Amino acid sequence: MHPRHFISLLDITASEFRAIINRGIDLKADRDPDYQPLKGRVLAMIFEKSSTRTRISFESGMAHFGGSALFLSPRDTQLGRGEPLEDSARVISSMVDCIMLRTYHHETVTTFAEYSSVPVINALTDLLHPCQLLADMQTYFEEHGEIQGRTVAWIGDGNNMCHSYINAARLLDFKLHIACPAGYLPNREILDAAGERVTLFDNALDAAKGADLIVTDVWASMGQEQEQKQRELAFNNYQVTPQIMANARPWALFMHCLPAHRGEEVSAAVIDGSQSVVFAEAENRLHAQKALLEFLLCE
Ligand code: CP
Ligand code: NVA
Repeated sequence: MHPRHFISLLDITASEFRAIINRGIDLKADRDPDYQPLKGRVLAMIFEKSSTRTRISFESGMAHFGGSALFLSPRDTQLGRGEPLEDSARVISSMVDCIMLRTYHHETVTTFAEYSSVPVINALTDLLHPCQLLADMQTYFEEHGEIQGRTVAWIGDGNNMCHSYINAARLLDFKLHIACPAGYLPNREILDAAGERVTLFDNALDAAKGADLIVTDVWASMGQEQEQKQRELAFNNYQVTPQIMANARPWALFMHCLPAHRGEEVSAAVIDGSQSVVFAEAENRLHAQKALLEFLLCE
């Protein structure tokens, strides 16, 4: 039997998504140290890229649930010396209960999953970052309740986070306004699959109009550091400023997956201001992923 993977939000149904969000909210409200559903179980975490939140949230989540997590860097394993992914997936999955990967190429995670006998979790690829959306949606539900029919504005790069927002809009049925500079639009296939829920804008102020939530992310993602200067020019008009927030609904929230660059994609006044929920959003990585681990490993 094939294990259940979480590589994209589209691997779960809308009702499973809502159940994970609600479970994350419950786990956050009531942490029972005696509840250890993953006692003795092991999560392997493979990181090709840096991480603060993802590593700590998965590691702490496993510890809370009575299990443990192994941090594996390709530099220190045979993965970095060219051992085939297929062989690595078979071997690692024969010894652990779940595997989390953060990689450059999305295909690294999909290939790994194909050969893994245990659930595989995508902890960010160049294409998608679905775990972050579990936390973002939990944060939205905590603050404002149901998101169906609401409007979210994505301002900035059409990157892995933007793609995951598009998939979330499909599942949870919210409207998504996307403002990206030319040349930095999201993946066409992902965009087209979302149909009329998603609208593209060529300026951030228009995209923000009527939004219940404004979201942005760095202009240069991990692996794009050499494009920083060129991107600073391209994204010059795409900083989330108080003026942009003022164009949204008065109760609009501001989110950012972090790490953030104040003065680039967001002004300090916004990220450190009263509408920003970025630290609740970061904390919710822990609660939402505990709900995800329970969903994948305890059903
Ligand atoms: N948001 C996020 O994934 O953070 P890290 O890169 O620190 O894991
Ligand atoms: N888009 C960013 C997200 C970091 C959590 C990146 O891929 O670097």
